[in-house]
Amino acid sequence: MALRLLAAAVVGIACFGPINTRAAELAASTEVNPIQQAVQRGADIFAHDQFGGVRTCGTCHADGGRAAGKLPNGAAVPSLVGAAAAFPRFAPRLQRVITLSQQFDRCITGGLEGQPPAPGSPELVDLETYVTSLSKGAVMGPQFK
Ligand code: HEC
Repeated sequence: MALRLLAAAVVGIACFGPINTRAAELAASTEVNPIQQAVQRGADIFAHDQFGGVRTCGTCHADGGRAAGKLPNGAAVPSLVGAAAAFPRFAPRLQRVITLSQQFDRCITGGLEGQPPAPGSPELVDLETYVTSLSKGAVMGPQFK
């Protein structure tokens, strides 16, 4: 009986154990894994890609987005550490709720003076992966009551 219970528990853990096991294994592994590769490609896009415009993300968001700063006109540039965890959020200037990728579109159109790639394009996925990696461990959803 005890053995059966034990067997059931083992099967239970195997089937219904933490669904993030594979993600955790990949995160812990020292080999370069797909999510880490996406983070690296995204960091490269953040630093170098102009999307047909005249700036990069890094022009305004210093230190790979980790530093807060100011534009030449004095407007505040927020640090992107923890930013992804606070999307979707209300954008006062637009008077509506926007997603993280809509914020990217705003920065690409307005900040870079470039052309946003199609939603779901590989570049945007890599960029989103990189910016979201800056929220590792941040509290998700501080904007919600
Ligand atoms: C010309 C300067 C400039 C450039 C270039 C720029 N941004 Fe921004 N970004 C800002 C400013 C200013 C804000 C704050 C105002 C706002 O939310 O629009 C901001 C806000 C953001 C936010 C929201 C932060 C928060 O806490 O709400 C994200 C995410 C972001 N930018 C990502 C990017 C990415 C990714 C790129 C490159 C594709 C980029 N930005 C390029 C100036 C810029």
